[in-house]
Amino acid sequence: MHVVKTLQLEEGMITALPVKTQDGQLVADAGIPLTQHLIAQMNSYGIPSVQIQDDEPAEASVTDKGPETDEASHAPKGNAQNPTYSQRIKSSAGFQRFQFEYTKAIDDLAKGLAPVINQSGTFDKDMLCEIAFPLIDGVKSSIEMFDMLHNMRSVDDSIYAHSMNVGLISGIFGKWLKLPREEIQLLVLAGLLHDVGKAKIPLEVLNKPGKYTDEEFALVKSHPKLSYDLLSAYPDDFLDPRVKLAALQHHERLDGSGYPQGLQGNDIDDFAMMIAVADVYDAMTAARSYRAPLCPFQVIAAFEKEGLQKYHPKYILKFLEKIANAYQKNRILLNDGRAGDIIFLNKQLSRPIVQLSDGSCVDLSRTPDLSIQSLL
Ligand SMILES: [Fe+2]
Repeated sequence: MHVVKTLQLEEGMITALPVKTQDGQLVADAGIPLTQHLIAQMNSYGIPSVQIQDDEPAEASVTDKGPETDEASHAPKGNAQNPTYSQRIKSSAGFQRFQFEYTKAIDDLAKGLAPVINQSGTFDKDMLCEIAFPLIDGVKSSIEMFDMLHNMRSVDDSIYAHSMNVGLISGIFGKWLKLPREEIQLLVLAGLLHDVGKAKIPLEVLNKPGKYTDEEFALVKSHPKLSYDLLSAYPDDFLDPRVKLAALQHHERLDGSGYPQGLQGNDIDDFAMMIAVADVYDAMTAARSYRAPLCPFQVIAAFEKEGLQKYHPKYILKFLEKIANAYQKNRILLNDGRAGDIIFLNKQLSRPIVQLSDGSCVDLSRTPDLSIQSLL
């Protein structure tokens, strides 16, 4: 065990003793791998230093889960050699391979979209699908794809990366919805093309770190129409109208609160509603200057808070249920620093029943102050 100044803490270090604020509030239990969020919390509480475990094999701890299983492989083992969930993914051979192919795919996507953006004639839509499908079909499971995408952020955050992500997420979503292969292909194409009009907006506006002026905000909000106009240059027998409508309507919301037209209910095309879910999911799992990427249960909570009525129930409920079910075997960290295992999903999917390391259970649907902060 050694002392590390809070400012020098690094993600993945393991706490040796419980970390508490000056007035005794628990920030993290002993044996917890530090996340960026936890380190930020410790800094904001003015905690000067933290006792960190030495880089030695851990003794059996309250977080040990017995024989190595898929589930147990997600558990912290209690020493600094055992990285966080995210670090484990990033160091896997599968991630290295995915990263290589993903980076190349984004390059190819930028080239493939150039004729659309430059309005210089036809583009190879089959080639666009051929860029995305090896990635969709190459992962072992849908969730492996999500894990990869969540951890790909530092690589590229351009509009092409976002478009690729929405295309890939839409492909998985189409499979979850059991759509026919041709429709999934079309949905992937819609995801790849949905934000193409953003290429017409100056990067210094798109990437502006501070608050937009009214004019800048109006310009950014014009991107669905810009995308639609670019795509409308192609006849319907070449480019399916649903792909064009997905570009125009992916910021519309079922309750009429979206833009550009404030459409409601069934006036919004099905493809646009599916792309909207994939688009928002990708935005939420992206790191922002003001917050770390959200973990899947935080994303579900954000959807639940933002209002599920904004999205079509047949899409949003299926999407969130699949995400929650896929991650329900994970060990998680609560916002009070305690670790536990999800043992039962409640109707409010972001607030399951969690069994803590001491064997006791917490029903998050009855404890509004507690929430899942990260996967372990
Ligand atoms: Fe958009």
